[in-house]
Amino acid sequence: MFATSTLTGSKPEQYAQLLAQARALIHGESDRVANAANLSALIFQALPALNWAGFYFFDGRELVVGPFQGLPACVRIPLDRGVCGAAARTRQTQRIEDVHAFPGHIACDAASRSELVIPLVKGDVLIGVLDLDSPEPARFDEDDQQGLEALAHAFITALP
Ligand code: SME
Repeated sequence: MFATSTLTGSKPEQYAQLLAQARALIHGESDRVANAANLSALIFQALPALNWAGFYFFDGRELVVGPFQGLPACVRIPLDRGVCGAAARTRQTQRIEDVHAFPGHIACDAASRSELVIPLVKGDVLIGVLDLDSPEPARFDEDDQQGLEALAHAFITALP
């Protein structure tokens, strides 16, 4: 059985603990759905003030919703739409303090106020994005971005 433990210390210390838990969770497994499902659950349980945490996978044309925690979400997102599309298109993390000020933001859950979307790229291939939403404005800071980019990297590394 996998036991999650409460995160302690500074934010970077907490993210180091979360990364260790994530690595243990996906150790020896390369199935992307299995790992995305467990990482979504881990992130959603461990981090405060989230209303959505999960994955979209790129099908060669657009983003398609994958494993997540939170309310049911938009199924398909074209790369020219929303925060997720911007992350996938530019291959740059999007850390948005106020989603209402982001042109083209897609409101899957009306409660969302800020958002962090990390592109998932293996080699040169776009795999998808890791998307976190919060009901609090400016929920995500640089520590969150670095910590979650490290988790995304662990996910990418486990893929075949
Ligand atoms: N808000 C996102 C859409 C995905 S949901 O938040 C789950 C966007 O603008 O891309």
